[in-house]
Amino acid sequence: MALTGFFVLFMFMALQGVAARRQSAWDPIIRLPTEDNATRWAVLVAGSNGFGNYRHQADVCHAYQILKKGGIKDENIIVFMYDDIAMNDLNPRKGVLINHPTGADVYAGVPKDYTGEQVTTQNFYAVILGNTSALTGGSGKIVDSKPGDMIFIYYSDHGGPGVLGMPNMPYLYGKDFIDVLKKKHASGTYKEMVIYIEACESGSVFQGMMPDDLDVYVTTASNAEESSWGTYCPGMDPPPPPEYMTCLGDLYSVAWMEDSESHNLKRETVQQQYDQVKERTSNYNIYNAGSHVMEYGNKSIKSEKLYLFQGFDPATENLPPKQINAKANMGVVNQRDADILSLWEMYNRLDDGTEKKAQLLKLITSTMLHRKHLDGSLDVIGVVLFGPAKSPNLLKSRRGGGLPLVDDWDCLKSMVRVFEAQCGPLAQYGMRHMRSFANICNAGVSVSRMEEACMAACGSTSTPLWSAA
Ligand SMILES: *[C@@H]1O[C@H](CO)[C@@H](O)[C@H](O)[C@H]1NC(C)=O
Ligand SMILES: *[C@@H]1O[C@H](CO)[C@@H](O)[C@H](O)[C@H]1NC(C)=O
Ligand SMILES: *[C@@H]1O[C@H](CO)[C@@H](O)[C@H](O)[C@H]1NC(C)=O
Repeated sequence: MALTGFFVLFMFMALQGVAARRQSAWDPIIRLPTEDNATRWAVLVAGSNGFGNYRHQADVCHAYQILKKGGIKDENIIVFMYDDIAMNDLNPRKGVLINHPTGADVYAGVPKDYTGEQVTTQNFYAVILGNTSALTGGSGKIVDSKPGDMIFIYYSDHGGPGVLGMPNMPYLYGKDFIDVLKKKHASGTYKEMVIYIEACESGSVFQGMMPDDLDVYVTTASNAEESSWGTYCPGMDPPPPPEYMTCLGDLYSVAWMEDSESHNLKRETVQQQYDQVKERTSNYNIYNAGSHVMEYGNKSIKSEKLYLFQGFDPATENLPPKQINAKANMGVVNQRDADILSLWEMYNRLDDGTEKKAQLLKLITSTMLHRKHLDGSLDVIGVVLFGPAKSPNLLKSRRGGGLPLVDDWDCLKSMVRVFEAQCGPLAQYGMRHMRSFANICNAGVSVSRMEEACMAACGSTSTPLWSAA
């Protein structure tokens, strides 16, 4: 009885197979239900500038090339990048960006939708929401998506607890970003969305806040409490070509992109990529030179095939859906030290006694001193607010239980504003102190007490002249 049932089922499946093959003679692409009528959209963001951050724009340009090869149209890919790297004086190959030591150019053809001062959090939100009137400058391209559409968002930059960086202030705050995603979902203008984020502490942007009913699936390079990592850096294994004095990529970013390029995305699932990327980004479980890839949102989306978000390159037709990459540990540098590494590489290569070398030494020194100034100011503020015994633990404490970084995000923004007014810009490096500001809010400190503490730490006379460039 059961056997007959099996046989009938088998015959049925076989016939279906024939039908599908016959149909495919007419239609070269076998359309799956989810593919019908769906437009794929992508928003790609490099959140930094400066040659020391070469890798973020290289990551994003590389992502564009993958999507483009995957058949996604330029009108549906929106790119944010400062665009100060390709033609930078320090770029050894003018007009070319590479994202791998032996990689080809990834810069050519990338649409410059939002560049320079247009790379802002506000424009990013306006693009996602498809709100043209909220845009300032740029190409005007937006995610003008329809109900059945698929959306892919990829972001690469520095971050800190609760925030992602942007080359123009203000930062992107976790709560605001999730509110934007809720608004997009409420507008009913997509079917599913996948978001990949590379940044330090990127898990903290979603932790304890990301709902699972927005039809959005998110993975982040790191958990809420750790750095993410630059790779293909000078002096590491594998190194960039010798003329490069900067890192070419980031560990999580190259992990997903090199995975996408080496698989048939009509067969590989989001889950399979997540598993591969998680393993590679952990640097094969050496977590002091790697990070914990995290996931948030609706995990059912993981069973979808990747091509629904990243497209399909016919050249990958015969690649396997899944393969175990050779386990090669990668040399990496903490995101926050990558720019110092880059400056130091340049310094090292200059001839002694030159004007340029002296200037670079000054730049390295002032960068290091600014870091000390920020760290030291926070120490003083903590002591003024909480006393010397409690302060260190209080500022650095991590809330357990999957709680969000802070309950009152407006308070967090106010504390940052007050600090910057007295002590100068936090800049890229200073984002690491966001947890301290969050804890100051969680402890119920008022803005006026914070003002007093910042004045005590940085008072007008001791504010160093330092610019965030
Ligand atoms: C679009 O942005 C404008 C300007 O920020 C805002 O006033 C308007 O409410 C937004 N429209 C929608 C539909 O969100
Ligand atoms: C195609 O999408 C539109 C909305 O954009 C929807 O109204 C329509 O029913 C869809 N058609 C099919 C065949 O799914
Ligand atoms: C998650 O996504 C699946 C597949 O799209 C859907 O069926 C399910 O309802 C979603 N879950 C929530 C909580 O929205």
